[in-house]
Amino acid sequence: MEKACKVKPRNAGASSTRRPRNKLFFQGDGTVVIHILTNTYSVIDPCFARGAREVELDMGCGKGRFLLGLARRYPERVVLGSDVMLGRLRRVQRKVDRFGLRNVELLRAENLELAAFLLPDRSIHRVHLLCPDPWPKARHRGRRLITSEFIGRLLRILAPQAVFHVATDHAPYLEVIEAVAGKASGLEPAPTAVDDIADLRTDFELQWLAEGRQVRHLSYRFIPAE
Ligand SMILES: C[S@@+](CC[C@H](N)C(=O)[O-])C[C@H]1O[C@@H](n2cnc3c(N)ncnc32)[C@H](O)[C@@H]1O
Repeated sequence: MEKACKVKPRNAGASSTRRPRNKLFFQGDGTVVIHILTNTYSVIDPCFARGAREVELDMGCGKGRFLLGLARRYPERVVLGSDVMLGRLRRVQRKVDRFGLRNVELLRAENLELAAFLLPDRSIHRVHLLCPDPWPKARHRGRRLITSEFIGRLLRILAPQAVFHVATDHAPYLEVIEAVAGKASGLEPAPTAVDDIADLRTDFELQWLAEGRQVRHLSYRFIPAE
């Protein structure tokens, strides 16, 4: 079970800079908390007592532009934003509060762990993995997230008919993603599955588009075997 941690408001003096080590969630100045899911094996309920609704997950949400656009467009859905970097999540937390959004949950979590054991089976209706680090150097390739191992874990959390949406500007990584997703049993290309949000951009995507780089989006639907 989660319990509250006493972290003072940011203007409350030196102790406010304490890192929330061993805390289960991080309370900012407003109402949205950051659930700290590093160093835990708990399974979390992505709807957090909100009742069963559609749940979207922005994995590695960064500064949150896409996540915020999605949450504003679909206030009836729960939108989860996850990232390992607490500083980025805190920035998103402040924006969520500023916009008065009530349908966002922020998770400090490592992507593979989130897919492997932190979320319940079949709990997510659309996963967005946008502009993940491409690790272009040959000696760093092993750090890339999207492998058949990761896709196998991801399939566990996808609800039937759920959508996996991925974007990258890195052509070699795109080829790898297409090959890995193409081999995964149960994933079928679904090119129109993100048409409703084609106008929403991430912070990295905007930056890359401004630099003249091309960002390609792929989407797949999960059709489980009978
Ligand atoms: C290139 S940025 C993209 C951010 C955002 N999706 C965008 O497009 O603006 C990658 C993000 O993934 C996060 N990240 C990297 N490795 C991660 C991991 N193993 N688990 C969770 N988040 C990770 C980083 O902290 C960063 O915010």
